[in-house]
Amino acid sequence: MNKTLSVIAMAIAMVSCGADQGTQSVKQEKAEAALEVINSRVSVRQFTGEKLSAEQIETILRAGMSAPTAVNKQPWAFVVVDDEAILKQLSEAILSSRIENGASHVVVVCGDMDKALEGEAQGYWVEDTSAATENMLLAAHAMGLGGLWVGVYPISERVQQVSKIIQTPEHIIPMCLVVLGQPAEQPAVKDKWKVENIHYNKF
Ligand SMILES: Cc1cc2nc3c(=O)[nH]c(=O)nc-3n(C[C@H](O)[C@H](O)[C@H](O)COP(=O)(O)O)c2cc1C
Repeated sequence: MNKTLSVIAMAIAMVSCGADQGTQSVKQEKAEAALEVINSRVSVRQFTGEKLSAEQIETILRAGMSAPTAVNKQPWAFVVVDDEAILKQLSEAILSSRIENGASHVVVVCGDMDKALEGEAQGYWVEDTSAATENMLLAAHAMGLGGLWVGVYPISERVQQVSKIIQTPEHIIPMCLVVLGQPAEQPAVKDKWKVENIHYNKF
């Protein structure tokens, strides 16, 4: 290689190395931002009463529907509640829901048995809807909003009450409520890192 060519080759190598480093640092920033959202999410139980927009709710629902599901069945239905009378009924039925503390919306995350797998694998609908629920809580937190997971399934009394209030057909089972709003509190993040819960290779 003559001298000119080797200088060009060196310059190309330096530029592409710089580009690699740039890509790496963007990747690292993205990873850090995602991990920050995951690790700083907390349950919010006090809200300002301010209403969330339809766009904000759609963004949260999109995050929910991005969740993985067994055999990609997506065996779910999301009932978005913003009607004051229905919010009050849900609040009275499930006292621990904190809806009365200024929540804007409740999304009832439901399993759809017509879309679920058959036989023993049918029960995967619970994991599928749980994955969607956590995605929604993380999206809300990333957007600066507050969210709370309120369990419904498998407590049969809660399932019956919620089903009646939101008028679900037979094949739809309410799994949980995702209570959403503008946060009026900033609870401390709980440290849940426990090495004793980790096992390697065998229990
Ligand atoms: C299946 C399930 C059911 C829950 N039900 C309720 C509930 O009825 N009321 C409530 O205030 N919080 C409820 N939570 C929220 C938990 O209390 C909360 O996630 C837990 O205390 C950990 O706190 P963190 O979310 O701030 O990390 C529920 C969470 C899960 C996963």
